[in-house]
Amino acid sequence: MEWSKNLPQFSRAQVKYLANTGVLLGQGNFGSVYKNYTVWGESLPPVVVKVSKKKYFKNDLEQETKFLHLLDGAGGAPKLLAYSLALPAIITTYTGDQTLRHLLHKSRRVLSDTLLLEIAIKIGQNLMEIHELNIVHNDLHCDNILVTLPTAKQDLKVSIIDFGLGKMTGGNLDVRPGTGKNQYWMCPQVRVGHPSTTKSDVYSYGIILNQILDELQSEISQELADLVQATCLYNSCDRPPVCALLQELQRTLEYVRLQAS
Ligand SMILES: Nc1ncnc2c1ncn2[C@@H]1O[C@H](COP(=O)(O)OP(=O)(O)O)[C@@H](O)[C@H]1O
Ligand SMILES: [Mg+2]
Repeated sequence: MEWSKNLPQFSRAQVKYLANTGVLLGQGNFGSVYKNYTVWGESLPPVVVKVSKKKYFKNDLEQETKFLHLLDGAGGAPKLLAYSLALPAIITTYTGDQTLRHLLHKSRRVLSDTLLLEIAIKIGQNLMEIHELNIVHNDLHCDNILVTLPTAKQDLKVSIIDFGLGKMTGGNLDVRPGTGKNQYWMCPQVRVGHPSTTKSDVYSYGIILNQILDELQSEISQELADLVQATCLYNSCDRPPVCALLQELQRTLEYVRLQAS
């Protein structure tokens, strides 16, 4: 396993301890995700412990682990710190306190237009970094994006997480019934097991953009509205590339900044 070189391997007891002393962040079909400080002591940044329900690492976590290794932080992805085969789990860096869903839900009309557009742009830039490595995320939605709002000390930070359904460009998902691969944010071709392409993620990015742009107080240009609308076209060739969306979002941001000054 190429990715496991130089990574510490944890025992079942160590993973159980981290789970028991951690804070539960999420629980689903996959398993449970915890935040914990105790691995390297309270004064160091927290880590995330993702524990699978399945018996074997290979069946579930191996794919995600391979992608996290390849990404090595690209797209704001968490970095691998350790793993466990005995109780299938990975330990990664903690990359943000709130999901985009959480932020949009709680901050109705509270976030400035500038910040909303900056978040939309950062997601696209991260996506391009991921695509440059020929990786398609395939499960891009508001719960798999973490946002850390800017402060006087720190810039806005956006992290794309959860590469459990990731594929190299051209790979297909196993979409047998019961595998939970029929979500509205997934592109129609991927849902029926056809090859994943960067345009599969454009479909999902479009849904996220609609959710973000919905919160704007300013009017957006017809060009941007048309491009975003084209992200959900059935034929993936008709969907715009991420760079075209970014260009129009950037233009809108400049316009909004000018209006505000
Ligand atoms: N690296 C991380 N940093 C901070 N929170 C995280 C991280 N990874 C996961 N989480 C939190 O745990 C939740 C579930 O994790 P995720 O990897 O998306 O697993 P699942 O496959 O169950 O969706 C996320 O929505 C997020 O709230
Ligand atoms: Mg998730």
